[in-house]
Amino acid sequence: MEQNIQVEVTDREGVMHQLEVPVDMGLNMMEVCKSYGLPVEGTCGGMALCASCHMYVLSDHNLPEPSEDEENMLDQAFFVKANSRLGCQIRIKPDLDGLSVQLAPVGAE
Ligand code: FES
Repeated sequence: MEQNIQVEVTDREGVMHQLEVPVDMGLNMMEVCKSYGLPVEGTCGGMALCASCHMYVLSDHNLPEPSEDEENMLDQAFFVKANSRLGCQIRIKPDLDGLSVQLAPVGAE
């Protein structure tokens, strides 16, 4: 059965985008942002190795704890906050309906 959820992404200019995302394609938030043309590079292809998909989780969804790889990567990222996550490690599931994230600023500028 096809099922879509709605997620909300605030870009680096503060513009909010409502995105409709299928739950049955095994997508993650990095891929979702890319497919909608949002400026998320996803350089490592979702391996938790680049932090170019760094985003802040604004809604209070119960996400799985970050893996050790994700935590290590976030340790090296810039502008890290308590709600920082790697988008590629946020797997789209039905219970993420209404998820709200904000793209983190890019690197050391
Ligand atoms: Fe590289 Fe997420 S795409 S860490």
